[in-house]
Formats: sequence, structure tokens, C-alpha cells
Amino acid sequence: MINSQVNEIIDFLIRRRSIRRFQNKPVDMNLIKELIRVANHSPNSNNREPWKFIIIADESIKKELSTLHKGASHIAYAPIGIAVVAEPDLSPETWMIDASNATLYFVLAAYSVGLGVGWIAAYENRKAKEILGIPEGKILMTLLSVGYPDPEYKTQPKEVKKPEDVIFINKWGLKVL
Ligand SMILES: Cc1cc2nc3c(=O)[nH]c(=O)nc-3n(C[C@H](O)[C@H](O)[C@H](O)COP(=O)(O)O)c2cc1C
Repeated sequence: MINSQVNEIIDFLIRRRSIRRFQNKPVDMNLIKELIRVANHSPNSNNREPWKFIIIADESIKKELSTLHKGASHIAYAPIGIAVVAEPDLSPETWMIDASNATLYFVLAAYSVGLGVGWIAAYENRKAKEILGIPEGKILMTLLSVGYPDPEYKTQPKEVKKPEDVIFINKWGLKVL
């Protein structure tokens, strides 16, 4: 059994929760740039790095994006929004996995410097693509709200599946554990 009390990375991975309320404290652009540098180190097929990050600092754009759906409201109050865009033309078979890995690297790096991140399901959202000027052929993967977490924000307790509920051995459907 891994002891998450002594393994700081595992403890961090287990404790991370989505953040949807932020302090009214600016986030340094150079810090965001650094986090994107980390994201560019994520594992991706043939190291083609088929992604772009759009940093959204403009208040009116964030406000407009926050109206996409109920779960998008937090981006209006986040100091920074990020749109992760995948480029299937650069990596036709693996762009989705590659860009997802880059997104998660960015997110985990952000938490490591004290930021919090909220996700927004905006996959290929027409209106969001239009607002952000994302061309046809490029895929809007997700929108992220980024900022220093509001200390008053309380996350709901989260239940996760047990390992044995998601493990098969050797073949699909074989449960031996
Ligand atoms: C692809 C994706 C889309 C999501 N969409 C939203 C969303 O639209 N609004 C939101 O508030 N959270 C969204 N989330 C966050 C999930 O609700 C959250 O990760 C999940 O409930 C687990 O909670 P945790 O991140 O605090 O561990 C999304 C997460 C992912 C990975």
C-alpha cells in the first residue's frame, strides 16, 4: 500500500479538487507562461505537441464564455481563463490523448504553485469557438478557470470507485481480485 502521508506527490494527486471560486488577486502572466512550458513537457505521440493554449484575460470575453452553460459560470470570476485547443492536423491519430495530457500537466502544475483550476465542458462548443476565433479544423478541448482559490470555497465530499470496480485481469471482464 502506498502511504500518501509520506508520498507527497500521491497525496497531492488525491487531494486536488476542482476550484470554482477565486480570490480577487491577479495571476502573473509569466507564471501562466511557465505553466504552459510545463504542459509542453507532457507525454504525447512522437512529441508533435498538437495543442495551443489561449490565455483569456479580457473580462468581457470571460463573461461571454461564462454564459455557455450552467457549469461555465465560474470563468466570469476567475482572474484568468484558458482555452486548450487541439490540432488534429499535426497528429491525426492521437491529438485527443496528447492534448488531454497537456491539459492535465498544466492543471497539476498550476496547483503546485498554489493556483486552483475549474474545468468547463466546452468541447467543440460552437459559440465558444466563435468568441475565441478558433479556426475550423482545430478542436476546442476545454476551458479552464484559473486563479488563487478562495479560502472560503468548500468542495463537496467526493466518492471514487474502488480499484476492484475498475480492474480486469488479463482479459476484459475477468475479475480475480
Ligand atoms: C472534461 C471535463 C469537463 C468538466 N466540465 C465541468 C463544467 O462544465 N463545470 C464544472 O464546474 N466542472 C466541470 N468539470 C469538473 C468535474 O465536475 C470534476 O472534475 C469532477 O466532479 C471531480 O471533482 P474534482 O475535480 O473536484 O476531483 C469537468 C471536468 C472535466 C475533466
